[in-house]
Amino acid sequence: MDATSQRLLMCRPTYFAVGYAINPWMDPSAPVNTALAVRQWEQLRQTYLDLGHTVEEITPVPGLPDMVFAANGGTVIDGKAMAVQFRDPQRADEAPAYRAWFEAAGFEMYDPKHVNEGEGDVLLAGDHLLAGTGFRTAHAAHAQLQEVFGYPVITMQLVDPRFYHLDTALTVLDERTVAYLPEAFSPGSQAVLRRLFPDAVHATMADAEVLGLNAVSDGRHVVLPAQATDLAAKLRDRGYETIGVDLSELRKAGGGPKCCTLRLRQGKASK
Ligand code: ARG
Repeated sequence: MDATSQRLLMCRPTYFAVGYAINPWMDPSAPVNTALAVRQWEQLRQTYLDLGHTVEEITPVPGLPDMVFAANGGTVIDGKAMAVQFRDPQRADEAPAYRAWFEAAGFEMYDPKHVNEGEGDVLLAGDHLLAGTGFRTAHAAHAQLQEVFGYPVITMQLVDPRFYHLDTALTVLDERTVAYLPEAFSPGSQAVLRRLFPDAVHATMADAEVLGLNAVSDGRHVVLPAQATDLAAKLRDRGYETIGVDLSELRKAGGGPKCCTLRLRQGKASK
């Protein structure tokens, strides 16, 4: 399996906290260790550098504790960047911060017309865009994504509030393969996934409950939460190299490695 070197955007969790609850993982009364979150995040960043990826950083903004979840900052494919619109007011101000970064970096900008939480809900799998809805990204946003990026968009209906973003329920492993938790999807979406990806890896609830599916693959190496041991074993059986990282502090906000990572896809060649 060939690894692709990736250009990634990350945001240091300098102001990370859990002061509000917008998903079932978040408990504002539970203690959070921000310094530990930063160290865990630095290890994730170093893991990407060791794999030969390029990591760019957006400056964190005080008062935006979830800004560390860069996957929600946009969708960037073929040099086009679509900005986001958050469902929850607590995250609204992250959208212009990320938008300004994309613009300064020279991407062709598109603005969302509906709630759209970026790569949290929009995953490029080969020549299809898989787009989640049910909790965050509005179904209406899917049509705009198809129009802007020109990839067929496949709607994925999410049904379990713990797996509120598509990237908590499904991982793209390479152009042909995904791993996912079937129960996180409606019966119709499960049927679509079976049709599109007959060889997919099925994760267990135990893997999903440690956010094991919130993983980042370069086609060969899969960076995933260290606690997702069953999933890691299945991936190794399929020939992937797995790298476990511990993001226990960020999980208190409902985020894992993929949430912290936005893929910047420059042009067709580096898709
Ligand atoms: N606390 C954040 C929220 O609920 C976590 C976002 C995780 N990001 C992701 N791509 N799944 O919005």
